[in-house]
Amino acid sequence: MKSLQDKILKEGCVLGNDILKVDNFLNHQLDVAFLNEIGKEFKNRFENKKIDKILTIEASGIAIASIASQHFGNVPVVFAKKAESKNLDKDVYETKVYSFTKAKEYSVKVSKKYLNEGENILVLDDFLANGRAALGLKDLVDQANANLVGVGIVIEKGFQDGRALLENKGVKLESLAILDSIENGTIKFI
Ligand code: G4P
Ligand code: NA
Ligand code: NA
Repeated sequence: MKSLQDKILKEGCVLGNDILKVDNFLNHQLDVAFLNEIGKEFKNRFENKKIDKILTIEASGIAIASIASQHFGNVPVVFAKKAESKNLDKDVYETKVYSFTKAKEYSVKVSKKYLNEGENILVLDDFLANGRAALGLKDLVDQANANLVGVGIVIEKGFQDGRALLENKGVKLESLAILDSIENGTIKFI
């Protein structure tokens, strides 16, 4: 997605050799008009697929999924919860996700009410790095005996292992921008 590449070049900032900060439109402040263009592009990428629900993970995925939903006929958006919550149902699908960034494992949950057998699920998220979060969401979909239609990612870090991990499991992956490298402060796309 050319406009996304341009926006990353103009507004993104590189930390070290492997972190791209896009706080001003995606991860902290939200550029709603631009996220709407992202939502449209996800619809293009999954044009002929029947989607019953969009699944994402808190926090940054929520805005993307909610805006994208409006291009998929306002299908419900479910966000998996990372935070411990007293309000969450006891009856949940749960999986463990290892975060390299944080060097720890955390638990991800969705109430069994909101993922159902036979539903066609599109997973959306902001970043794909090592793919552990996306794989965790796939595990939740599998536990529910729902169908994972595909995974849509705004920014893929092509120099990490996420794509290989997902494609080895037969997942259809669509990333709107793929970073080839971000070394020495220079952003290159694939
Ligand atoms: P993985 O799920 O692909 O294995 O990734 P990892 O554990 O390495 O990533 C942990 C968090 O850091 C995720 O967000 C992920 O989206 C984010 N992340 C990874 N690389 C980058 C990067 O280069 N830039 C930015 N901005 N984020 C990156 P999270 O902890 O789930 O947080 P949230 O933003 O969804 O709240
Ligand atoms: Na995320
Ligand atoms: Na994130």
